[in-house]
Amino acid sequence: MSDLTKEIEKRRTFAIISHPDAGKTTLTEKLLLFGGAIQTAGAVKSNKITKTATSDFMEIEKQRGISVATSVMGFNYEGLKINLLDTPGHKDFAEDTFRTLTAVDSVILIIDCVNGVEAQTERLMEVCRMRNTPVMVFINKLDRPGQDPFTLLDEIEEKLDIKVRPLSWPINIGDRFKGVYNIYNSSLNLFQVNKTNIEDEVMSISDLSDTQLDEFVGEEDANQLREDVELIEGVYEKFDVDEYLKGNLAPVFFGSALNNFGVQELLNSFIKIAPSPQPTETDVRMVEPKEDKLSGFVFKIHANLDPNHRDRIAFFKVCSGKFERNKFYQHQRINKKMRFNNPTSFMAQDKNIIDSAYPGDVIGLYDTGSFKIGDTLTEGEEMHFKGIPSFSPEMFRELVNKDPMKSKQLEKGIQQLTDEGVAQLFTQQPGNRKIIGCVGELQFEVIQYRLKHEYGASCDFTPRNFHKACWLTTTDKDKLTEFVRRKASYVAEDKDGNYVFLAESAFLLRQAEFDYPEITFHKTSEFKV
Ligand code: G4P
Repeated sequence: MSDLTKEIEKRRTFAIISHPDAGKTTLTEKLLLFGGAIQTAGAVKSNKITKTATSDFMEIEKQRGISVATSVMGFNYEGLKINLLDTPGHKDFAEDTFRTLTAVDSVILIIDCVNGVEAQTERLMEVCRMRNTPVMVFINKLDRPGQDPFTLLDEIEEKLDIKVRPLSWPINIGDRFKGVYNIYNSSLNLFQVNKTNIEDEVMSISDLSDTQLDEFVGEEDANQLREDVELIEGVYEKFDVDEYLKGNLAPVFFGSALNNFGVQELLNSFIKIAPSPQPTETDVRMVEPKEDKLSGFVFKIHANLDPNHRDRIAFFKVCSGKFERNKFYQHQRINKKMRFNNPTSFMAQDKNIIDSAYPGDVIGLYDTGSFKIGDTLTEGEEMHFKGIPSFSPEMFRELVNKDPMKSKQLEKGIQQLTDEGVAQLFTQQPGNRKIIGCVGELQFEVIQYRLKHEYGASCDFTPRNFHKACWLTTTDKDKLTEFVRRKASYVAEDKDGNYVFLAESAFLLRQAEFDYPEITFHKTSEFKV
């Protein structure tokens, strides 16, 4: 096996997704503890955007700044190199999360057993479904009075459109939570508050009719478990790893991240079944990780908020070959050779300059403005990675220049900020009117602040009452021209010059689809890349 293949097979690159408060930070921390990447609990907390800061975007940006160091947490476990890509918990930065999902090979989805499937989870899972990303589910907070596990499983299947297969099962819940039965390897794990080591407490119960079970958990719960497991075996198909790898089937685990319960089991199953780096699609062909030439793409850009340091960190995912420090690579979009003398890796909390990186790794490249989200680096081959879609924003405002003397600065600032993915920019004619689309309110404040402090430009926003932005494609050019002419006040161009329909309501969107069957209205920009 070549060195490159060995390195690839060692890697598991994944993200944890959840609705805020379901326990992502807690689980991350516990995984890092098991991986030996941190020594004390509490070390990852700085990664989290605290709840008290929801209306204070400067505070949030500061925290995001801190979180750069923990954006990618690499750790070694059982001979594997595990890369955990962090996703921001704040809903206003959901786009960052969507993009991060394009750089992972699998995800762990956390569901809070009290709240069940929540809105943000549905959107995140949509992205996973689009890409057939393998998903493992961890149902958390079993120490709290949550919903019935069967109801939760039904809810997951229904709302998230994925088949599930429980591989472990809880014995009671809330303050009567007794533990988890591991269906996969027939062992019983009894619950203790805040346990740190589970191994010596796992009991092997290969036969559920064993009366030992009654001794451990009491007769009533033992009987309930027997009934539940029988039902599970009857209702759910056997767990099939291939179906998981294709993104069709999600194994489900139960536990309590806070109490360190069920976490190691989750991690052990993860390293057994989660995929190593997978092929990635470009506009011309599929790229295999073991190809010897380097290729990869930028999926996230983080700017330094300090106006004295205009540098930015581009998060670059290696898709094939070996990345080497100081070697020249071709920046495909601007057709320029570039080399990097201080690429960094992220190992839990340390940032280190690295000499090389392999498929599955994410490295930080310092940049002063040449990168845009989605940019591809290769050793010369002309291709662009697909799969960094823009999603329709949910809030739209028109940018108003408050200081005509600073138009140039405003223009440059808004171009650069939208390159970073802070928001989406649509330009409307006549008059080059700039419409900014965001997922959350906060981003408008961030833009206003950054334009002022980094570019010296002042702006205001006028609300525009659009419901969705839809990218337009057609094979009938005349029809598109007609549409654009007729709906001129509702058509704009995105940054790449693609036509976008700004629909004022779901009704008007349906109407347009009905009137123009020759045109396809896309809610993400994925089709075009
Ligand atoms: P997030 O990153 O997904 O937003 O969630 P986070 O891990 O911060 O967890 C949200 C809250 O849920 C935290 O409490 C955390 O302690 C709690 N939590 C996480 N896992 C469990 C669990 O298994 N059982 C119980 N009962 N609670 C859990 P908090 O009070 O909001 O924050 P903190 O003061 O503990 O930091």
